Amino acid sequence: MFPVPILCYNGVMALCSNYTGWVVRRGHAGTGAQFLIKMIEYTDSVEEITTEMLIGFFEGWKKPHTPQAHLRILQQSDHIVLAIDREKNSVVGFITALTDEVQSAFIPLVEVLPDYRGQQIGSELVSRMLKKLEGIPAIDLTCDPDVQKFYAQFGMIPSVGMCIRNY
Ligand SMILES: CC(C)(COP(=O)(O)OP(=O)(O)OC[C@H]1O[C@@H](n2cnc3c(N)ncnc32)[C@H](O)[C@@H]1OP(=O)(O)O)[C@@H](O)C(=O)NCCC(=O)NCCS
Repeated sequence: MFPVPILCYNGVMALCSNYTGWVVRRGHAGTGAQFLIKMIEYTDSVEEITTEMLIGFFEGWKKPHTPQAHLRILQQSDHIVLAIDREKNSVVGFITALTDEVQSAFIPLVEVLPDYRGQQIGSELVSRMLKKLEGIPAIDLTCDPDVQKFYAQFGMIPSVGMCIRNY
């Protein structure tokens, strides 16, 4: 299926999905109005991903994972979804899940690079992951209180938990 571009004035808008994701393009309208063109593609395959494509993640972490460790995380997770900026050939967002495929799934990591936030990429990653986990009754993640609103839009509810954090 071919993507059908729709331009968005002074902004970025997800347009039309092809089989791997959404496509957004940058350009100028005849009026001279400026359009941002970005091509964001979604994939659940890590095969073509290199460490050079994984720069800038784990923002604000005391000990951010190296791109090498990040790649291993992606390779060894049960499910992943990646958002890729095809113009720059870099990963700009990702989500991972671990699951027994029967009762429980845990979503350890969701991150969109700062320059790409607020463009619905995080929402798309979570929606695609929840679709992959459909049928699993318990899906958990931990997050700071300020991000609860983001997850609430997917029907997630606050819960209480315990954890170990050795970092
Ligand atoms: C949280 C995060 C993944 C959201 O990604 P994003 O691509 O910016 O999110 P979207 O553009 O899809 O936002 C969808 C909606 O959620 C809201 N939202 C996004 N981030 C939010 C946050 N941190 N707190 C509250 N609401 C948030 C947006 O305002 C938006 O609402 P709108 O559609 O009414 O404008 C991203 O901000 C991020 O990577 N943060 C740093 C890492 C992090 O906190 N990860 C989660 C740890 S569990």
